[in-house]
Amino acid sequence: MDHRVCWPILSLVLLSQLPGCEGESRGRPILKEKLLVFTVATKETDGFKRFIRSANFFNYTVKVLGMGEDWTGGDVAQTAGGGQKVRILKEAMKPYASAKDLVILFVDSYDVIFASGPEELLKKFQQTKHSVVFSAEVFIWPNRHLEVKYPHVRDGKRFLNSGGFIGFAPNVYLLMEPWNLQDKDDDQLFYTNIYLDAEKRANLNITLDHKCRIFQNLNGALDEVVLKFEEARVRARNLAYDTLPVIIHGNGPTKMQLNYLGNYIPKVWTFETGCTECEKDTISLPEKDNKFPTVLIGIFIEQLTPFVENFFERLVNLDYPKEQLQIFIHNTQTDHERDVRKFVEQQGDKYQNVKVIGPEEEMLNTDARNMGLDMCRQDVACDYYFNVDIEVVLQNRDALKLLIDQNRSILAPLVGRRKKLWSNFWGAMSVDGYYARSEDYVDIVDRRRTGVWNVPYISSVYLIHGSLLRSDLTKRDLYHSNKLDADMAFCQNVREQGIFMYVTNRHVFGHILSVENCHTGNLHNDLWQIDENVKDWEEKYIHPNWSRIIEDKILLQPCPDVYWFPIFTERGCDDIIEEMEHFGQWSSGGNQDMRIQGGYENVPTIDIHMNQVGYEKQWQKFLKEYIAPLTEKVYPGYYTKAYSFLNFVVRYKPEEQPSLEPHHDASTFTLNVALNKAGVDYEGGGCRFIRYNCSIQASRKGWAILHPGRLTHYHEGLPTTSGTRYIVVSFVDP
Ligand SMILES: *[C@@H]1O[C@H](CO)[C@@H](O)[C@H](O)[C@H]1NC(C)=O
Ligand SMILES: *[C@@H]1O[C@H](CO)[C@@H](O)[C@H](O)[C@H]1NC(C)=O
Ligand SMILES: *[C@@H]1O[C@H](CO)[C@@H](O)[C@H](O)[C@H]1NC(C)=O
Ligand SMILES: *[C@@H]1O[C@H](CO)[C@@H](O)[C@H](O)[C@H]1NC(C)=O
Ligand SMILES: *[C@@H]1O[C@H](CO)[C@@H](O)[C@H](O)[C@H]1NC(C)=O
Repeated sequence: MDHRVCWPILSLVLLSQLPGCEGESRGRPILKEKLLVFTVATKETDGFKRFIRSANFFNYTVKVLGMGEDWTGGDVAQTAGGGQKVRILKEAMKPYASAKDLVILFVDSYDVIFASGPEELLKKFQQTKHSVVFSAEVFIWPNRHLEVKYPHVRDGKRFLNSGGFIGFAPNVYLLMEPWNLQDKDDDQLFYTNIYLDAEKRANLNITLDHKCRIFQNLNGALDEVVLKFEEARVRARNLAYDTLPVIIHGNGPTKMQLNYLGNYIPKVWTFETGCTECEKDTISLPEKDNKFPTVLIGIFIEQLTPFVENFFERLVNLDYPKEQLQIFIHNTQTDHERDVRKFVEQQGDKYQNVKVIGPEEEMLNTDARNMGLDMCRQDVACDYYFNVDIEVVLQNRDALKLLIDQNRSILAPLVGRRKKLWSNFWGAMSVDGYYARSEDYVDIVDRRRTGVWNVPYISSVYLIHGSLLRSDLTKRDLYHSNKLDADMAFCQNVREQGIFMYVTNRHVFGHILSVENCHTGNLHNDLWQIDENVKDWEEKYIHPNWSRIIEDKILLQPCPDVYWFPIFTERGCDDIIEEMEHFGQWSSGGNQDMRIQGGYENVPTIDIHMNQVGYEKQWQKFLKEYIAPLTEKVYPGYYTKAYSFLNFVVRYKPEEQPSLEPHHDASTFTLNVALNKAGVDYEGGGCRFIRYNCSIQASRKGWAILHPGRLTHYHEGLPTTSGTRYIVVSFVDP
């Protein structure tokens, strides 16, 4: 039996226009040249550009309608609207009203991507055996009362969505021919009313794509849709119907999920190729320094933060011509004024200009951030705005260049907490606007997948095109929105403008400090960061060769069983000395010493104990982490817990105490670190082991001597003849 049905008679006039039985055989595939894609877009949004890229990938022929027109179709995200699209499309369809063999695909574009090509689309269209196919979804919109009129659907989406439909040109023309409404009227309601009219539905031969063979509307279907990685290509799979939709539409509140899918589909990132779009449309920076784009760097010190001086050192070392940089600093912390002032005094002149808003101005975080944006917005010469929060450690000196080069509207370099999953972006977001983890979040943070990722939230460090601030982001208080914090408000405002925010992990950029338990009250508070930011502490204070001592034989043995090796950076030595001099309460050097048990010291020195400056606990940790592992290497079989109750900095001066008489230490082994330079800071000094008649003079700044404390290593401190010599000593395992 032949199931083929001829075209129902619409009217005598129209009959001849519609493709019917006398037309081509339905079994023969429609050639892809016979497909024309229409979309209405009034602006080249980021979403539009993504749509076009996906269309070009599959060689679709797209006609863009309405570009440059004002959008008068209402705010479709909040209310009904979109009639403008029908008006424009109707007009554009006129020439094709009788093009029987032409197939028209209409799709939205800001929130649509193609996941497959024209051949598959046309094949699936033919398989529907209908002349017009609309996309379908689970929600009825905009008129709920129409539900009863909808044909029942056993399995699949029941309601019409007008964001995508495909049909023969004459049918599509007839579909919109009756349109005589306003631009702000609702397009979906218009099509729905036609579809719900049984006669019109039959005459125009309309059906819905109930099982997402062609169109996947994401709203209400997020759990059904997963990425499907194919060989060198990615598409979406609908798990509910086991279909592979051709067109993915982030309708309603699903833009973020579409952005997620769009990070992969159709071939943006695959396991085989990695990122395929990262090298496209990039900017090459000019040869000449003075031709570099002007960047305003907004620096925000919103809480006590460790390593602020190192932040400014890195800023100075950033590889970018300073005469093209402007600096804006918002500092709310009096504790950090010293470092800010030092930066401005020593480096300020080299920059185009520097502006500081200090704690005395009591400016709020949000206001300061808005002000930073505004400074760039109002200066047409400001090419980029670079927001950097003080807790960001941008170790990559090329960071700014790399971000500019990538040419995205808003781009953040990935930075995270060391060894933690916490980072400066969210891969997904919950319905109420808070953090949610995307499936790829961990792979991106760990850089198992590298690329440039479209994400719903970024913070801490990001680059914005200045032109964007003067076009789509002119709203003055972007950092303000209801009760949201500044970053969340900013991201929400940006998302609402349809602007994409990206995070790149193509390079290693740096990390974010923990600002919890930030120590204050001392001169060099960073010394206390050994607990909270141990790696940063190590980079600042532990000698870079420390980790190579054993394997690279940097360990010296100048006297029997006496080991000599680098432990502190010069910076570490300086900070310890300065901390002690700042504290200033040097002991008198007498035998009476109430700081120690028993109150009597046999071999007194002029010193300050670590516990006097509140550094006992941290010093213990230092011994355990950085000294104990070495002792076990050099004194095999001896396992130390690195207990030490006596840790102190000694000051030798000719006019005070130049030397120390021969003695044993109350320790199993002793650590003795030279904190300044022989021959520069002082003359003389050193340590002599009497039993071996062996001395270590010309001690090296930052180098430690490790020696047994008792019995064999009777020793003396050799006289310092001029200047001041400092050492730090620990009696370990007394
Ligand atoms: C119109 O739709 C019906 C299903 O309702 C289908 O069987 C038929 O083939 C279609 N007619 C034409 C002419 O395509
Ligand atoms: C698109 O067209 C180009 C050039 O004709 C061709 O190389 C490419 O394979 C086509 N892409 C697809 C997906 O068909
Ligand atoms: C930067 O990207 C845009 C598209 O977003 C492109 O139009 C422009 O040409 C790109 N700039 C350069 C220098 O390639
Ligand atoms: C680390 O050791 C190497 C030799 O192994 C030496 O060349 C280098 O200068 C040392 N680094 C520092 C900072 O002292
Ligand atoms: C100790 O060594 C020095 C030279 O290093 C030498 O002059 C002196 O005589 C030695 N003393 C003893 C007691 O061996």
